[in-house]
Amino acid sequence: MTVLADTAVADPEIARLLGEGARALARDGATADELSPLAVPPDLDQALRTVLRAPDPLTGRLVVRGLLAFLPDPGPTPAHWSDARTESTRALDLAVRIVASTLGRVFGWTGQQEGRLVHNILPTREAEHQQVGASSAVPLYWHSEDAFHPERAGVLMLACVRNPTGVGSRVASVREAGLTERQLRVLERPDAAILPDDSYPEASRSGQDPAALRGIPTVWRSDDGPCIRYDPSYTRVLTDDPEFSRAYEELGRALDRCGTTVPNEPGDLTLIDNDVAVHGRVPFRPRYDGTDRWLKRVLIRPNRQRPAVESTEDGFGQQTVAPSANSTLETRP
Ligand SMILES: [Fe+2]
Repeated sequence: MTVLADTAVADPEIARLLGEGARALARDGATADELSPLAVPPDLDQALRTVLRAPDPLTGRLVVRGLLAFLPDPGPTPAHWSDARTESTRALDLAVRIVASTLGRVFGWTGQQEGRLVHNILPTREAEHQQVGASSAVPLYWHSEDAFHPERAGVLMLACVRNPTGVGSRVASVREAGLTERQLRVLERPDAAILPDDSYPEASRSGQDPAALRGIPTVWRSDDGPCIRYDPSYTRVLTDDPEFSRAYEELGRALDRCGTTVPNEPGDLTLIDNDVAVHGRVPFRPRYDGTDRWLKRVLIRPNRQRPAVESTEDGFGQQTVAPSANSTLETRP
């Protein structure tokens, strides 16, 4: 087992509490998308808060191990995300949702995976060569999750169901990239427009009008350091200033240099700060026989501020999906 510095190992007793709690909720008919008020036992909620913390502010990542040890096997990897919400995945999906909710407000998107709160990331034949999570044959290049949208996640959680060939996630922090202050300042100019990626078929089509494109900063500042909003595969640079182009290209090379591979071993929860780090994946060859790599993904909005100007963006019409109105999980202190 590879153990990174940014790794927390869960107490087996907390894992047992989570496993039993999620199984009980599943038996009672709860789902990850609809969780009844106060359904999560308070002792479980409190225990989870002792093991979960925000990703490291420098590296932008944290791996939590052992927390899913008492969940049932969700069965073979489905052929498509739409086939992945079954009885056998219900308890695991509930557990992932409960864990994510200790870090902030979980949400989905109207135009992605039917608005579900727990996404399934698995290789799909028609997406093999696309720049989306369902790809496989091509490297998934560096990107901020949902970079096109002002309400994108602050933290991204990936839970590994299985990964037979050890295909890790690549993670790179803008705070470890070693860019000069001058380069960072150039990248703060709102000179790059980011379009929705191909996992949003409707939004992608609506974003093709060049006149409607609006530039945004690639780098912005928070109290604890530079932050990044980056998805070059879906970006149009709106300036011909060579200094911007050089800085933008150097950013890509710098991320390549400082990037790390997070192993994604079965049961691992990988937390990525979507404002500090970008992520990607090396290519792999799927078998489509039920044994392929399978991750669960949850989008989380912690209580934090982004630049006020982002609130004026329209997000290409893409709307967030909140948890069921019946749920009070996200409002717990
Ligand atoms: Fe991603």
